[in-house]
Amino acid sequence: MPLRIIDHGSREYDQMVALRMDVLRKPLGLSFSPEELEGERADILLGAFDEDHLLACCLLTRQDATTCRLRQMAVVNSLQGRGLGASLLYFAENVARDRGFRELVMHARMTAVGFYEKQGYRTSGQTFEEVTIPHLLMRKPLV
Ligand SMILES: CC(C)(COP(=O)(O)OP(=O)(O)OC[C@H]1O[C@@H](n2cnc3c(N)ncnc32)[C@H](O)[C@@H]1OP(=O)(O)O)[C@@H](O)C(=O)NCCC(=O)NCCS
Repeated sequence: MPLRIIDHGSREYDQMVALRMDVLRKPLGLSFSPEELEGERADILLGAFDEDHLLACCLLTRQDATTCRLRQMAVVNSLQGRGLGASLLYFAENVARDRGFRELVMHARMTAVGFYEKQGYRTSGQTFEEVTIPHLLMRKPLV
């Protein structure tokens, strides 16, 4: 399963937005604004593929010189629970480490906290609401 960096504005990026709509936004009755997508030009966009077909994606946003934030992690609904998410997260950690970041943080949906805990992330602070549902801050040092 090839894992690779996606260029903003490419055909692969269109697939990425469609996957995130299906898995993350539509179930909440939400969408993406053009400004939100335009703001992703500065992010590192990552995908897991079966040939040209996108199976899973996430992105990394620089927070400061040492920390970056994992966002928009999504696996095709029918392919969840087969190890794709864990593989993509491992790839994202390696990419972040290669770029000099020393910590990964995220706003994890409560429903996904168990997944991130299995990959060594720890919760921090109280639950808060984002995109209408509860989240927790999670973090992991990239040593
Ligand atoms: C959460 C998500 C990214 C996980 O990816 P995945 O490919 O389904 O997960 P994996 O198959 O790689 O799972 C790895 C391990 O985590 C566990 N796991 C997966 N999803 C879990 C969840 N939601 N809660 C608790 N554990 C979970 C698996 O059972 C597996 O455990 P094991 O190592 O003991 O076998 C994916 O299910 C998804 O896209 N969910 C919907 C969108 C979402 O919630 N995204 C995260 C937003 S913060």
